[in-house]
Amino acid sequence: MGARVLSGRRMSHWIGIISLFPEIFGPFLNAGVLGRGIKKGIIGVDLWNPRDYTDEPRRSVDDKPYGGGPGMVLKAQPLGDAIKAAKSDKGEDCHVIYLSPQGRQLTQNMLHQFLDKERIILVSGRYEGVDERLIESSVDEEISMGDYVLSGGEVPAMAFLDGLSRLVPGVVGDDISVENDSFSNGLLEYPQYTRPTIWDGKPVPDILTTGDHKKIDEWRKTQALGRSFERRPDLFGNKRLTEEEKRLFEKYLEISKQERTDR
Ligand SMILES: C[S@@+](CC[C@H](N)C(=O)[O-])C[C@H]1O[C@@H](n2cnc3c(N)ncnc32)[C@H](O)[C@@H]1O
Repeated sequence: MGARVLSGRRMSHWIGIISLFPEIFGPFLNAGVLGRGIKKGIIGVDLWNPRDYTDEPRRSVDDKPYGGGPGMVLKAQPLGDAIKAAKSDKGEDCHVIYLSPQGRQLTQNMLHQFLDKERIILVSGRYEGVDERLIESSVDEEISMGDYVLSGGEVPAMAFLDGLSRLVPGVVGDDISVENDSFSNGLLEYPQYTRPTIWDGKPVPDILTTGDHKKIDEWRKTQALGRSFERRPDLFGNKRLTEEEKRLFEKYLEISKQERTDR
């Protein structure tokens, strides 16, 4: 019994995942940026299977819902004991999140705030969800990945872990790329291009091949403002523009007006 330990020794952030399907996480935890963060020992991840904590002889972790209705509900006892085991290993102050479509919808801002919590336990539900009493007694908050329903909390747990670990200093090689990511400054990111300069008859915008970094920076800022305005008026409306951004946005509006007239 106990966690499958994947954590590094010098880690600054630790995530415990409670899941009936720990095997799903294997390749994910070894790949890419997150895999590097774990190997470097910056991020620690341990997995706990509630099936290892059931007090039932047949190791069952679910049962029919009281009051009738379809499906099965995850029992409070195995989940509660898995959380207790994780806390007794890592400390009572672990922040416990139940991944649930009924929770607060995750945003980039919230991920930045979760950086303050060094130890987080993510509880993945399955079936019809978990016994409400477990949420009341052992969960600090519920977090949702969006207004849609998935079969389990494992994919949301991966999304949370991936999003959070990108923000932990030292995990993403070039810290600048995180700063420029969509949402980090309240806007979508500018469009990206790579070689070749012409693909499928479409050239890369000329400015990007001039080597003029000041102009490239202005172009990117203008694109980010324009994209956010067109695609996410909700985001754009909440963004406080600097004087430079106001000027660039005016320029963007002028260019798009001109383009519409030319068409
Ligand atoms: C089929 S869902 C249960 C949905 C539940 N019957 C309801 O309507 O609220 C099974 C599990 O998947 C996870 N899940 C599903 N959709 C999710 C979402 N949008 N965000 C986070 N977790 C989700 C939760 O852990 C949930 O317990």
